[in-house]
Amino acid sequence: MPPVKTIVFYHSKTGSTKKYAEDIARQVAGEALPLKRGWVKKAEGAECLVFGGNVQAGNIQGLNEFLSEYERFEGIPIIVFSVGMALPSPEGRQDLISQNLLDMYHVRFYQVQGSFDLNKLDFFSKFMMKRTLKSIGERENASAAEKMIGDLVSKPLVIYDKEKIEKIVTVINGLSSGLYKA
Ligand SMILES: Cc1cc2nc3c(=O)[nH]c(=O)nc-3n(C[C@H](O)[C@H](O)[C@H](O)COP(=O)(O)O)c2cc1C
Repeated sequence: MPPVKTIVFYHSKTGSTKKYAEDIARQVAGEALPLKRGWVKKAEGAECLVFGGNVQAGNIQGLNEFLSEYERFEGIPIIVFSVGMALPSPEGRQDLISQNLLDMYHVRFYQVQGSFDLNKLDFFSKFMMKRTLKSIGERENASAAEKMIGDLVSKPLVIYDKEKIEKIVTVINGLSSGLYKA
């Protein structure tokens, strides 16, 4: 069975989501494209659509724009993945679903862990994040997790969530065999 024609759209600030999107696309012989003006036209003819967005304060960036065209893609399997520095967990996944109203749509959703590097942020975001991270790490009786967050000021977090990407690729490949229906 040939792979289904897959397009992976992404929104990425510091490159993690972009890398994941490109890796998924390569492994399913698809295409990875940034979610920018005119993206809908590029989605035409797709048999599977994937959207990946970086997480900021619990919001999956670009998701609203992507889902605003949801009805146009009725019948096509849709996969959404979020990329945040938080360790994926059932509770964290549920919070993302609730905050981003994902349960209003018929989509498959994966929470992927990404890297965090303060130095890749623009001046303003870097300034704000540095202050926030420092204050968490310096809390009185800070827990081990809070101290780890504080450490991000001086030490980037480098993560590649290989397992989750393999899972997404497996699901897309399963579509071509007719294993799953939209
Ligand atoms: C302003 C800001 C807010 C963030 N908020 C969250 C968050 O709420 N949850 C989370 O898991 N990660 C959060 N992160 C971390 C990013 O989601 C993470 O670094 C991700 O890998 C970035 O993806 P990108 O490289 O594609 O932009 C935040 C990062 C920034 C800069």
